[in-house]
Amino acid sequence: MRAPLLLLLLFATSSLCFKILVSVPKFGYSHMKTMGKLADILVESGHDVTFLMPVDVPIPQNGTELAKVVLVPPTDEVSQIMETSMKSGAVANLWTHSANSKQGIMWSTDMIGAVSYHNTKSLINNKALVQQMKDEKFDIGITELFDFSGLAFFEVIGLKNVIGAHTTSVFEGTLMATGAPILPSFVPGSQTFTDDSGSILSRLNNLYMTYWSYEFQNKIQGFAQKALDEHYGKAKSPKIWVGVFVLILTKLSSNLFQNLVKDITWFFVNSDPIFDFPKPLPPNIIEIAGISVSKIHPLDKEWDEILNKRSKNVLVCFGSIASPTTMPESVKKSIVDTFAAFPDVTFIWKYEDTESGLTAHLNNVHIVKWMPQNDLLADKRVSLFWTHGGMASLMESAQKGVPLIVVPIFGDQMRNAQIAKRHGGAVIYDKMELGNSKKLIGVLKEVLENPEYKKSADLLAQILATDRVSPKQKIIDTIELAGRFGQMPRWTSAGKEFSMLKYFNLDLVLLFIFIVFSVLLSVVLMIRSVLVKLGFSGNKEKSE
Ligand SMILES: *[C@@H]1O[C@H](CO)[C@@H](O)[C@H](O)[C@H]1NC(C)=O
Repeated sequence: MRAPLLLLLLFATSSLCFKILVSVPKFGYSHMKTMGKLADILVESGHDVTFLMPVDVPIPQNGTELAKVVLVPPTDEVSQIMETSMKSGAVANLWTHSANSKQGIMWSTDMIGAVSYHNTKSLINNKALVQQMKDEKFDIGITELFDFSGLAFFEVIGLKNVIGAHTTSVFEGTLMATGAPILPSFVPGSQTFTDDSGSILSRLNNLYMTYWSYEFQNKIQGFAQKALDEHYGKAKSPKIWVGVFVLILTKLSSNLFQNLVKDITWFFVNSDPIFDFPKPLPPNIIEIAGISVSKIHPLDKEWDEILNKRSKNVLVCFGSIASPTTMPESVKKSIVDTFAAFPDVTFIWKYEDTESGLTAHLNNVHIVKWMPQNDLLADKRVSLFWTHGGMASLMESAQKGVPLIVVPIFGDQMRNAQIAKRHGGAVIYDKMELGNSKKLIGVLKEVLENPEYKKSADLLAQILATDRVSPKQKIIDTIELAGRFGQMPRWTSAGKEFSMLKYFNLDLVLLFIFIVFSVLLSVVLMIRSVLVKLGFSGNKEKSE
């Protein structure tokens, strides 16, 4: 009698404690920060969380403050790949190639893919680590479907109850694997620069960029797959997913193998249902944007004095990857000239080289290594935020009603910029035009002086502040479901088992076209034979 009662009690309470493994490479700060905050929320709600970090770049922070961190040092190959791409390779070229192109999406895939391959290999071949993590008997594994080393590692340690994550909006490969719709007519793809205007050019561009957004994830996936194939042997190796071209006609092959992403029930994605483009999303994809926005702390005296100097203040920050110190000299000059054109405005610029003397001749510019961005944005004296459009920065400013100039640089930033613009509080500025100070001055003047931007930004902030289920609560609820019931295949879309022919009912369309065509053809043949019988045949003259 006792046991069932206890069991009942156990299940009736939501304060269950699960052992959770979160895998996040130390690669990009924004990814670590969002995943770290997710881990911290889980620790705060009573779970036992281990944060597994293959180190790619020696970033000082871990992202999480509360979870147990297990660092896996980089292999020589990884260190070398990262070093070359930072100094002279892909990352250094971010200021000189357009974001609105195939290259703007694919520039990093060889680097991320190679790192993913080496990370996957080093994790799954690390016998001690594999055994240690097996012995932990985790209930749930959470990993971003970005570099895929975590997903491969979970498979090797036998952790089947996996939750997928994105620290951006959801990627196309993930949508396809879980059977969720991709609608490029009005939903901009994950790394797309287009809007939802529906114009023929916008839709064409979006179709093209949505394909490359898919290919970005798919290509990186291929590198982790290669490491898995080498580990298990190609024939026995579990498949991460099947590619789009297989999906067009058949999903047969997916039944022959395990299909790791398809088997996932829950996904956490970094978008906000009110802020993002309106889009269809199945209930197993949980939107959690906003978790990485910190509480507001009062500004210290030094910042307070800076903000008091002039009636308008502009924050300038391009994020943690594309450092403005690597901008071409002409671009730096154009930005400094722009600052000089507004002597009544204070500019606070995050520019790591504070000794450069770049703005020594201007007293309205403060160059800083770091700024309390979230606290500054909350201050009414800040009139404008000039940002690269990372999701964390956009959520911080959207919640506070700050007008924006968004200069998207790579990744999801082009799409984020379009979201901000759609709400009316932002102007998008092409990074390839940063060298044009005349244009830059014009745009800055427009956003500073036209009150419509502030009005729209304030409206958005009020809507976002209205009470609704918090992302934190959504995470807690999802973890409870995932911990108690494991993978729940019956609660995900049947569409994920369909080929594209079936998914879009193209087989029915083809059948319909075939029937219509057959009927038309038989009618034509019948009329012809009747005409022949009545003596109207075209061959009549000949036979005479
Ligand atoms: C990151 O984690 C490692 C390993 O647990 C720890 O030694 C280090 O102090 C952590 N760093 C920070 C900034 O918390």
